[in-house]
Amino acid sequence: MRTHYAGDLRPGHVGSRVTLCGWVEARRDHGGVVFIDIRDARGLAQVVLDPEQLPEAHRLRSEWVIRVEGSVRERPAGTVNLELPTGEVEVVVDTCEVLSEAEPLPFPIDDRPGGEGAVDEALRLRYRFVDLRRPRMQANLRLRSRLALAVRQAMEDQGFVDVQTPTLTRSTPEGARDFLVPSRKQPGTFYALPQSPQLFKQLLMVAGLDRYYQIATCWRDEDLRADRAYEFVQLDAEASFVGAEEVMAFIEVAVAAGIEAVTGTRPTEFPRMTWHDAMDRYGSDKPDTRFGMALVNLTDLFAASEFRAFAGKTVVGLRLPGGADTPRNRLDAWTDRAKALGGGGLVWMRVEPEALDSPVAKFLSEPEQKGLRDGLGAEPGDLALLVADDDQRLAQTVLGALRLEIGAEVGARPTSLAEPLNLVWVTEFPLFEKLSDEGRPVPSHHPFTAPHPDDVLGLEDDPLGARSLAYDLVVNGVELGSGSVRIHDRELQQRIFALIGIGAEESQARFGFLLDAFRYGVPPHAGFAFGIDRLAMVLAGEQSLRDVIAFPKTQSGADPLTGAPAPVDDRQLRDLGLRAAPPPD
Ligand code: AMO
Repeated sequence: MRTHYAGDLRPGHVGSRVTLCGWVEARRDHGGVVFIDIRDARGLAQVVLDPEQLPEAHRLRSEWVIRVEGSVRERPAGTVNLELPTGEVEVVVDTCEVLSEAEPLPFPIDDRPGGEGAVDEALRLRYRFVDLRRPRMQANLRLRSRLALAVRQAMEDQGFVDVQTPTLTRSTPEGARDFLVPSRKQPGTFYALPQSPQLFKQLLMVAGLDRYYQIATCWRDEDLRADRAYEFVQLDAEASFVGAEEVMAFIEVAVAAGIEAVTGTRPTEFPRMTWHDAMDRYGSDKPDTRFGMALVNLTDLFAASEFRAFAGKTVVGLRLPGGADTPRNRLDAWTDRAKALGGGGLVWMRVEPEALDSPVAKFLSEPEQKGLRDGLGAEPGDLALLVADDDQRLAQTVLGALRLEIGAEVGARPTSLAEPLNLVWVTEFPLFEKLSDEGRPVPSHHPFTAPHPDDVLGLEDDPLGARSLAYDLVVNGVELGSGSVRIHDRELQQRIFALIGIGAEESQARFGFLLDAFRYGVPPHAGFAFGIDRLAMVLAGEQSLRDVIAFPKTQSGADPLTGAPAPVDDRQLRDLGLRAAPPPD
């Protein structure tokens, strides 16, 4: 139907006859001539129609789909548009065919950053096919495609085999709720959509596949956030006879290839940090290491302080360089934020040449004030911010979250998520994250993660103190992926199940197929998975996964385009042996 893409036309085409197909982006009717910007997948070109010869030129409207034939010429002097790659040429049209008319759009296609902001998201998603016409969205989807291809190629090049695992399966414990699919043949029973291919990839290791990968869709029924979707895509991988080092090396190659395919630059630095250090210095297990304002632990300094808010608590502080002139209302707002984040409050101190200016300075001894300055490396003109709490983790995470927010507010934290790119491995995660309401340890990763060999003996005595062989890859404060060395010993696996409150019977019922497989010769194995959507989001510089997913759900989990989720016929329910309960009030 066409000879060229509109977006490809250049001065080299001058004199050629071309046929273009695309959408009417804009129409400028100058009476004598009509100028049309025709848009296709590669960009825009200006075409010129003479209504004397082509009377339909006056009829053309925005977003109509047309096909035009004509010859390329240089634009007349003074009409060149150097902002447009095709801006030095135009096509003088002699044949124009309307392929399809378009009703007025539900909203304008505004590609300026934030241009879509004025349009209600449900409306954008209801008409996603229009929304996706925005060049930015097109670029995002194309970026994603290049990313996935490069990652796939990198895995193939390293000897990994792409195996598709089932999506109608049993629950995989990744910590979220399952999406269930009722079975028609066995009424009252359900498949679960996989939260990840975790158990199948471990079975593939027992099967001797040695190196497996898959670009796998996963489903998790969890509260949606900017970086969390119900269904998302992972690069999932597993390998046998390897430990954490080898897995990290494989993944570095794949992530670097993906980033290079998108940005043209291959990252070479993948520094490491233990989980303990990440919490200590950044108050987060996914540190944004692109800027300073690192946390300093001042607990020992104030252990015996007269100041009751500090004494005997975990005290963490950070230095805001040059922040002493922060107005009081900002300091109050930051204090309110600290409270909203669950902290008791925020102590601020303006660092002056001879003293600390703060409502609490009078409660601190001379040595404490000096220790605080030295500990933070504070200079006159700086601001010190401190959080204290009985709960160490809480003190760290509150100040860690404030570091990100205040860092962004004062311009220390880069505004774009896309650059610079700081990748960092966080290693030695605790095996368990916390105790559940029933007093059972809750796995930080999943229950198949191997404990650190030095902590296996004392597991039952001090579960929360145990480290694991789990590692995360973090980019600019976003968790890109997680993985671990797996338990390949049945007994140890049973011990972990018992600790987390899954008894022998239940573990056999839920994961018996994996435990049974381990009876038949299981190699030591380890693996990893990283979010393709998340990496695409970061590389596109977007703030939300929804901008790199073609047909995402709204915040409330609905798809305004298809109307999903939707009620089904009574008959369908009957076939499945289900009855709909009346909706809760
Ligand atoms: P994990 O649960 O950490 O590990 O998931 C790995 C990566 O998948 C992405 N991800 C998500 N992306 C978008 N929306 C979500 N709801 C969502 N949940 C997870 C993240 C995350 O880092 N089976 C293990 C991996 C392993 O141990 O090999 C797993 O799935 O980028």
